[in-house]
Parts: sequence; structure tokens; C-alpha cells
Amino acid sequence: MNIIFFHPASHFNSDKWIQGIQTRLPEANVRQWVSGDNAPADYALVWLPSYEMLANRQDIKGIFSLGAGVDAILNQELENPGTLPEAIPLIRLEDAGMARQMQEYVVSSVLYYFRRMDEYKQYQEQRLWHPMPPYNRKEFVIGVLGAGVLGRSVIEKLREFDFSVRCWSRTPKQIDHVESFYGKAQLGDFLSECKVLINILPDTPETRGLLNLSLFQQVKPGSYVINIARGAQLVEQDLLIAIDKGYVAGATLDVFVEEPLSNLHPFWTHPRINITPHIAAKTMPDEAMDIICENIRRIEKGESPSGLVDMTLGY
Ligand code: NAP
Ligand code: GLV
Repeated sequence: MNIIFFHPASHFNSDKWIQGIQTRLPEANVRQWVSGDNAPADYALVWLPSYEMLANRQDIKGIFSLGAGVDAILNQELENPGTLPEAIPLIRLEDAGMARQMQEYVVSSVLYYFRRMDEYKQYQEQRLWHPMPPYNRKEFVIGVLGAGVLGRSVIEKLREFDFSVRCWSRTPKQIDHVESFYGKAQLGDFLSECKVLINILPDTPETRGLLNLSLFQQVKPGSYVINIARGAQLVEQDLLIAIDKGYVAGATLDVFVEEPLSNLHPFWTHPRINITPHIAAKTMPDEAMDIICENIRRIEKGESPSGLVDMTLGY
């Protein structure tokens, strides 16, 4: 069995991955893919494949994404048709150590706003001793856009703090004590009670630009926005307008239209915006390699891998 590996970032530790996969699958021949390598491959592990890496590899049995999101891979195919050989399974990472990190990120951000730390920070800057009444937990409704592997884990953790949580997804969900809304028709009802909006949707043509001025006008006035999914889902200029108009009181953003964020970007210095550099949840190599190798074994046995991407839905 031949496995090719490619990650475009020069700082990425590909050797660790190649050795780790090799140890887990001793029967395989694992190699770093480099331009010009057309030798046979049964499986490919990639973050962003170049056209040359996968095109014409019709006998490949599976392409594994090194992340949860496959938007970059699918966009590559859109820009350069043929990057992905036809009808070959594309498999994404499910959790792989990311769920816990998302829980940490979301809980710390939500508590920051719930305990009014953003406002106390501003009073501190003015040397003002100004106690405020706490928010009423029942009225501090948290809406989670996306209730998949990561969204659900975030919802479960927020419930442990007794927050009122509701979710919005494509199909209905049954989660204890969580109100489920689904489809475009229920988006307005979902938004109408949200004091906090957390986005953990995959980036697809359906979700791109979803966080826009019209959406910000539908949440509770002075709401908080936490975007941990993809930058393209947020219309950045609309967020600035929504903050100016008071629809949004603060935003915590991990992802951006352009990454790294340009140092001229207004978000850097905005008093109501907190920024992190796309670190909400990193792929944990050991967990990810275990999952990928288990999936390769499944495919070899003729079974279906877990995390198969539906190419028509784009996630
Ligand atoms: P997932 O398991 O595929 O879940 C996706 C969820 O979004 C599902 O609940 C799905 O609904 C819902 N959804 C998709 N399209 C929709 C639409 N048009 N309308 C309403 N709901 C829709 O994905 P995941 O593993 O939770 O990951 C989510 C995303 O997080 C990834 O795609 C990635 O972009 C992002 N991410 C970011 C970081 C970071 O560090 N910032 C790290 C990892 C992942 P159904 O359940 O009804 O299908
Ligand atoms: C990271 O953003 C991922 O999609 O895994």
C-alpha cells in the first residue's frame, strides 16, 4: 500500500506525520509527495493539494483532509477542475482532539461576555469603579449555528453551565434541553432570542456570507458574536456597521476572509473585537493519525470510512 502526504506550510512537521502513519501501518510505504512524483498511490493525506498531486490518480482509494473543514480542498477543485479525481472518497477529520479545544474556546469567550468582562475592561481603562447587575442566565440565550461534531460538543459543554442553548442546522436535532431549529425557514425564529451567536458551520455556498447585516438585525440588540468556523461566512464590513448601530456589542473572531489578517485591518484595533489567529482548534496529530489509519483499514476491508464528505453538500 502506498500513501502520499503533503502539507503546503513550510513550518508544518510533515516528518512527524509520515513516521506516525508508517508506525501505525507498517505494511504501508508512506512518502512525502513532491512535485514530479507520479508513482502509484493508494491514499493521499493533504491539507491543500496542488492540481499535480492528485489529478489523473483514478486508482487512488481515498483522500484524507488533515483538518475538519474541506472548504480549501473543494475551492481548489472549483478553481482548478480536476484537482480531485472523480468519484474518489474525500474524508475529513471528525473531532481528532478539536472538540475539547472548541469547548474551551467557546466557554471562555461566553463567560467573558456573560460576566461583563468586556465592559469592566473599558471601565478599568477610565479608572471607573462601576459595579453592574449580572446578566440573567435565562435571558442570556446562546444560539449555535451548526450542530455537527464540533457544534454538538460545544452545545453539551455550555449546557453544563445551565445556559439556555438553541441550535440551527440543516436537519432537525434531538439534544436534551436544547431547542433545535433547521433550514432557512426557521433561521429567523432561531435568531430572534439569541444574545450570543456562535458560528461553527462548514463553509459552503449555502453558508458563505451568512453572518451579515440582515442577520445581525435579527438577534437580540447588543448581542455577542463568536466566529470559530470560517472567515468567508462573516461579511466583515457588516460586522463593523452592526457594532456601530448597537446590534452587536462585541465579537470574538478566530477566522478571517484573509489569513493572516492584514496589519491594516480595522479589526486589530477595534475596542469591541477580540482576535485570535485561527487557533480555536488545532488538529492533534496523534488523534488524527489514529482516526485516519483506522479509516484506511476500514476501506481496505471494504467498509465505509467515517467522516466521508458529501460532495453535493460540500461538507
Ligand atoms: P460537521 O460535523 O460537518 O457539522 C456541520 C454542521 O453544520 C451540521 O450540523 C450541519 O447540519 C450544519 N450545516 C451545514 N450546512 C448547513 C446549512 N446550509 N444550513 C444549516 N446548517 C448547516 O462539521 P464540524 O466537524 O462540526 O466542523 C464545522 C466547521 O468548523 C468546519 O467545517 C471548519 O470550517 C470549522 N473548524 C474551524 C476550526 C478553527 O480552528 N477555527 C477548527 C476546526 C474546524 P446537519 O447536521 O443537519 O447536516
Ligand atoms: C481547521 O480550521 C480545520 O478545519 O480543521
